[in-house]
Amino acid sequence: MSERLRLGVNIDHVATIRNARGGDHPDPVRAAEIVARVGGDGITAHLREDRRHIRDDDLQRIQDATDLPLNLEMAATEEMLEIALRHRPHAACIVPEKREERTTEGGLDAAGLHNQLAPVVTRLADAGIRVSLFIEASERQIDAALRLGAPVVEFHTGEYAHAFIYGGHDKVASELKRIGDMAALAAKNGIEPHAGHGLTYDNVQPIAAIPQIAELNIGHYLVGEAIFVGLENAVTRMRSLMDEAR
Ligand code: PXP
Repeated sequence: MSERLRLGVNIDHVATIRNARGGDHPDPVRAAEIVARVGGDGITAHLREDRRHIRDDDLQRIQDATDLPLNLEMAATEEMLEIALRHRPHAACIVPEKREERTTEGGLDAAGLHNQLAPVVTRLADAGIRVSLFIEASERQIDAALRLGAPVVEFHTGEYAHAFIYGGHDKVASELKRIGDMAALAAKNGIEPHAGHGLTYDNVQPIAAIPQIAELNIGHYLVGEAIFVGLENAVTRMRSLMDEAR
């Protein structure tokens, strides 16, 4: 498989900066329009329970402003399910959510939460929304995704990204092997693997080189880099690093 690897740009942190002053600038919709213009393949947005970045009205405005597929990251709650069913994004990625965490700190325990997740996955799928589960790259979680009938999993690359800075060569290699092996296992079972969390210019290429991975979702680094070089340049550079690695 050497199809073009898709880049979903997570625009949450444009909204984080906006919300710091309570006004309407910078607008994540403008970011979405730039992503569309420079060849991003999708917009990813996480509507958190506490609305710390993306807010309800942003979703509709993003959908109205671009034709790019929207990937809504959401906790498996009744409130978020209702919002997803109302907006009908292209995809919904179910993530674990703790109020006190700074970001999504680990994967969803799809195995342990089967009974809670099953009706959410079914209702999203019945509405034509492509369901993804944000999981650790492990056999147990892929097996759970299979039992839940999820067509997509997104591997949490946080450990890999952390190892890249603090872990040393062996730890990076073992994380990469784990993600690569699990991408192959998912694909063999008909599940499309994606990956995301903590990806940067420096660490993206080994992940992008894993042939089964179809999509990367990248946010914090791109928005941070955009402060220095502009969002257009940041997305364009990430895009070409991903293409080079393929
Ligand atoms: N994918 C998922 C499911 C996420 O929850 C996040 C973080 O919100 C990302 C990708 C993007 O991670 P980062 O902002 O570290 O690039």
